[in-house]
Amino acid sequence: MATENIPLLTPYKMGRFNLSHRIVLPPLTRNRANNNIPQPHAIEYYSQRATSGGLIISEANGACDISLRCPNMPGIWTKEQVEAWKPVVNAVHNKGGIFFCQIWHPGRVSDYTTQKWWFIGREEDQDDKDTTPEQLKLEDNVSDNYNEKWFFIDREPKDQAYKGTTPEKLKLEDIPQIINDYRAAARNAIDAGFDGVEILGANGYLIDKLMKDEANDRTDQYSGSLENRCRLALEVVEAVAEEIGADRTAIKLSPYDDYKGTTGDSTPEALGLYMANALTNLGILYLHVTEPRMIKVGDDYITPRSLLPIKKAFNGTFIASGGYNKYDGDKAIEESYADLVSFGRLFLANPDLPKRFEINAPLNKHERSTFYIQDPVVGIVLAPLTRSRSYNNVPQRHAALYYSQRATNGGFLITEATAVSNTALGYAH
Ligand SMILES: Cc1cc2nc3c(=O)[nH]c(=O)nc-3n(C[C@H](O)[C@H](O)[C@H](O)COP(=O)(O)O)c2cc1C
Repeated sequence: MATENIPLLTPYKMGRFNLSHRIVLPPLTRNRANNNIPQPHAIEYYSQRATSGGLIISEANGACDISLRCPNMPGIWTKEQVEAWKPVVNAVHNKGGIFFCQIWHPGRVSDYTTQKWWFIGREEDQDDKDTTPEQLKLEDNVSDNYNEKWFFIDREPKDQAYKGTTPEKLKLEDIPQIINDYRAAARNAIDAGFDGVEILGANGYLIDKLMKDEANDRTDQYSGSLENRCRLALEVVEAVAEEIGADRTAIKLSPYDDYKGTTGDSTPEALGLYMANALTNLGILYLHVTEPRMIKVGDDYITPRSLLPIKKAFNGTFIASGGYNKYDGDKAIEESYADLVSFGRLFLANPDLPKRFEINAPLNKHERSTFYIQDPVVGIVLAPLTRSRSYNNVPQRHAALYYSQRATNGGFLITEATAVSNTALGYAH
């Protein structure tokens, strides 16, 4: 790549991994893993976004059978899931990509079909499920009457509603099991061939909820002081690092977000700094943090808050996420604000994003309605291909996909404009 003056396209050494550029695919839940098993179309999805020396991170994977938010999210707790991930990981490795597996436990927003809903409320409230209705209000758009026990996935079409049951309170004696589930899931991820594991400690799910003082109203050693609230996060990180090595362990945090409406923190800077220092002591590979401008996914508030103090306090690789485009991604790298930048919705809509940044090609806009549908093609493979993808004026392999997707038996297709000579090119590529 001709990259000297594109900071995002400069190489970077992340521990044992030699990255050829700074553009990261962050975890993006796709809801297409039928019965929690990754499907063959995941090979297409991830390998399209893999580049030689590029870091990509899988969608969130359930760490155990009670850790799923909704049907069709992948897991990594069974042999079958490990086997199903293997060809996906191989395809990414065949392209020279570096592939981390994100593992999670959503806590109280688990799916109703799983056995339990973990909740962080007061243990003494355990038998009185109606005492903290605010905390049962899982989403902005949850029914006002929480007794209806319905909630909706983000702000997606209402037909994606899942029926829920009242969450159970998380008991102190259940915590070691949760930590062990993360440990086993991390081992499974390595067995599946992943290069490392990113723990989901962001976005209002189990680990994040405990960290945030506006959500955590326990009264035990997992509540109160920062040290206590961050205890589960650090115990999980420690267990995973012990299992697979700190040099393969990472975590994603979102100290500034208030993802579920009731999970914010009153001093997010202090929370971020505390975690950065503690993670430095644990020597993990990277820390992936959501920008303060993104209080919920999709937000882009103007804020004077910055991730820089957190970056400075952490001595591993620092990845910034949330609302980035090429311009401010380049700036973040140039100013050492971040070592790497993850691009979620842009990478979703532009599987060849690093190439597009390199040649300054037009970008597709993401199509929100395709984020979580079960279609194995729509929203998975190359999004609308219009033109300027024939690098060096030679049709690329993805053109085979593009045209054959649109071909029907007896249907009539016309190619994009194809130059008659090298003096007849309107645009590069
Ligand atoms: C469809 C969708 C699914 C997501 N799924 C996950 C996920 O599984 N795990 C996670 O940590 N973040 C998830 N996120 C957040 C992204 O990883 C990323 O941090 C966020 O989209 C901000 O980046 P962007 O502004 O470049 O899109 C998701 C975001 C979107 C849009």
